[in-house]
Amino acid sequence: MSPADDQAASPPPIAKAAEHLRAGRLVAFPTETVYGLGGDATSDRAVARIFDAKERPRFNPLIIHVPDAEAARQLVDFPTEARRLADLFWPGPLTLVLPRRADCKVSLLASAGLDTLAVRVPGHPLAQALLRAVGRPIAAPSANRSGRVSPTLAEHVRSELGDRVALVLDGGPCRVGIESTVLDLSREPAVLLRPGGLAQEALEGVIGPIAAAPTVEDSIARASPGMLASHYAPSLPVRLDILEPAQGEAWLGFGPVDGARQPDLQLSATADLVEAAARLFAALRSLDRPGFTGIAVMPIPDTGLGAAINDRLRRAAAPRAAPGQPRSSSGC
Ligand code: TXA
Ligand code: MG
Repeated sequence: MSPADDQAASPPPIAKAAEHLRAGRLVAFPTETVYGLGGDATSDRAVARIFDAKERPRFNPLIIHVPDAEAARQLVDFPTEARRLADLFWPGPLTLVLPRRADCKVSLLASAGLDTLAVRVPGHPLAQALLRAVGRPIAAPSANRSGRVSPTLAEHVRSELGDRVALVLDGGPCRVGIESTVLDLSREPAVLLRPGGLAQEALEGVIGPIAAAPTVEDSIARASPGMLASHYAPSLPVRLDILEPAQGEAWLGFGPVDGARQPDLQLSATADLVEAAARLFAALRSLDRPGFTGIAVMPIPDTGLGAAINDRLRRAAAPRAAPGQPRSSSGC
C-alpha cells in the first residue's frame, strides 16, 4: 500500500478518501472517540486488509460504521430498545451489538462469523462526511496495532500504521478520547461488553438495568473476543492507584496533589473525568518512553466515564504474556 498521503490539506480530502475506500483500500479517519482504521465492510478483501494491517486475530470482530440509524437498520434487526437508544445517543460514542439480518451484505469476516453485528453511528463531522460520501458501511477498529493504545491524534496513526493505509484524514484530537461503549442488545438482559465514552448510567436511564460489565477474567471466558486482559498496553509496566510513586516511575496524576512531588503529567488537575478520558491514551503514549521505569497512575473514581478509564488502565496494567516478551496481540 502507498505511504500515507498528506493529510493536513484543507478542505479535508473526503472525496479522495471515499475513492480509496470504494477501491478496497484502507483509510484512517477521526471519530469523536478515537481514530478508526476504515475499510469497505462489504468487501472480504478490504476487511482482510484491516486484520492484516493491525495484526489483529481474525476471531475478534469489527465495528461497522454507518451514517445514521436508517443505514444501521439495513444491516441488523432493530428492536425497540435499540431504536430508543439510537434516537437519544446516535450519532455518538455508543456501539450496539444486534442480530445480523439475513440479507446483510457485510463481510462475514468482519463479524468473525458471529450471527451478531456491532454497529455504530459516529458523531465526528469528518467521519459523517466520509460515510455519506462512500455510501457503504465501513468496518473500522481503532487505528492502532493490535493490543496497543488507541490513537487520539492523526500523528499516532501515522507513526504506527502510516505505511499500511492509503490515507490518514486528520481531524485533530478526538473529543471523547476513549472508545465507544459496546452494548449487546442481542440478549436479555442487555450486557455491557465494553465500558466506553457513554456512561452505563446514561444507558440505564433509558432501558433499565444492564448486566454488569464482565471483569477482565470473565470476559476471556465469554464471547466478547476483544476483551482480552493485556490490552491497551504501553511498553512500560503500569501500576494503578498509586499515591507514592517509586523513584524512576512516571507519575500520571488525577486531581490536585499536595506535597513536593508533582505528577509528571496530569489527566485532569480538577479531577474532571471527561477531561481525563480525552487525555488518557495520549498521556500513556507520552509517558511510555526510555528514562522511566514504569507508569504509576493515581486513583480514579469508578463512576461515569471513570468506569471506562479504569477498564482501560486495568488492561494496561494486566500481566503480560511472558516477561520480556511482546504482550499478547489478541487485543484490538
Ligand atoms: O470508539 C470505537 O468504538 C472505535 C472507533 C474507531 O469507532 N472502534 C473500536 O473498535 O474501538 P475496536 O475494533 O478496537 O473494538 C471493537 C470491540 C471489540 O472489543 C470487539 O470484540 C467488539 O467491539 N465487537 C465487535 N463486534 C462484536 C460482536 N458482534 N459481538 C461482540 N463484540 C463485538
Ligand atoms: Mg481497539
